[in-house]
Amino acid sequence: MTQKQKVLVTGATGTVGRHVVAELLARGHEVRALTRDAAKAALPTGVEVVEGDLTEPETLVPALRGVTGLHLITFGGAGFTPLETGARILESARAAGVRRITVLHGGGPTPLENAVRAETEVDWTVLMPVEFMANALEWAEGIAAAGEVREPFVSRLSAMVHEADIGAVAAVALTEEGHSGQEYVITGPRSLTVGDKVAALAVARGQDIRLVELTEEQAVAQWRASGLTEDVISFLLEVYGNTPEVGRTVVDTVEKVTGRPARTFGRWAAEHADAFAPASRAATA
Ligand SMILES: NC(=O)c1ccc[n+]([C@@H]2O[C@H](COP(=O)([O-])OP(=O)(O)OC[C@H]3O[C@@H](n4cnc5c(N)ncnc54)[C@H](OP(=O)(O)O)[C@@H]3O)[C@@H](O)[C@H]2O)c1
Repeated sequence: MTQKQKVLVTGATGTVGRHVVAELLARGHEVRALTRDAAKAALPTGVEVVEGDLTEPETLVPALRGVTGLHLITFGGAGFTPLETGARILESARAAGVRRITVLHGGGPTPLENAVRAETEVDWTVLMPVEFMANALEWAEGIAAAGEVREPFVSRLSAMVHEADIGAVAAVALTEEGHSGQEYVITGPRSLTVGDKVAALAVARGQDIRLVELTEEQAVAQWRASGLTEDVISFLLEVYGNTPEVGRTVVDTVEKVTGRPARTFGRWAAEHADAFAPASRAATA
């Protein structure tokens, strides 16, 4: 067990951040969590919740007092707008005596991640997860209502990762020696097709799920109808139609860094089975 440390987690109410918080707590560390709205944060007991906004770096100065670790996201506000405030945030972190920083890679170069990589006084680690298992929640409505998933490119492979494993890698890198200057690609234990994922979700909900393969044109029409912007649609066509090798190749980062095997999608599905329950069962539950 490493010595108890105090870490400031930004993005703490998010899909990944909640697991960074949980994994730090599970390892016996103290957590201060940043949010723009403490009343809505719903973080576990024992977490010190503080208000602040990453687009207004002066609000981080009190939040950074007394912490040795800092977990950062690269965006702020609606639409995942890249933060331009990295230099100011790092200046405050240095002044506060922060020793280790993790940054959650935002899918491409961002000013904040560049600022972290240029940092020479504080140890830093870039966390580069592939597709989150939580993306399967996008299917929850269709599965609960109609028992089906409607997707294009159903044979595409994804080495998708459980968000808790991103949190676990972050927690170790924030509190232990040996991770400075590393870029950690973080994946799950298997590369899965859409069919593999649908099969695991069917086991978890205890009922079959129909997989309907869409043509590219049908998928674009469906995404437009659901309100996605043309930029997002182009991004989806690119990553689903032509998943880069890094997104479909399993690596052993989770086991190497945390000493435990990466969590499976079957486990994720079991943990989230309620979200995929038939609408009639969910209504009577
Ligand atoms: N989805 C994937 O498959 C995938 C894969 C790899 C990488 N990524 C990357 O992961 C990141 C998304 O992570 P996520 O899904 O965990 O995020 P998320 O669930 O959308 O959470 C957003 C978090 O950001 C915080 N936030 C937003 N603007 C803020 C601001 N101005 N000041 C302070 N906090 C702010 C929110 O805090 P409050 O609302 O509480 O203030 C919230 O905790 C993106 O960079 C994405 O590119 C995603």
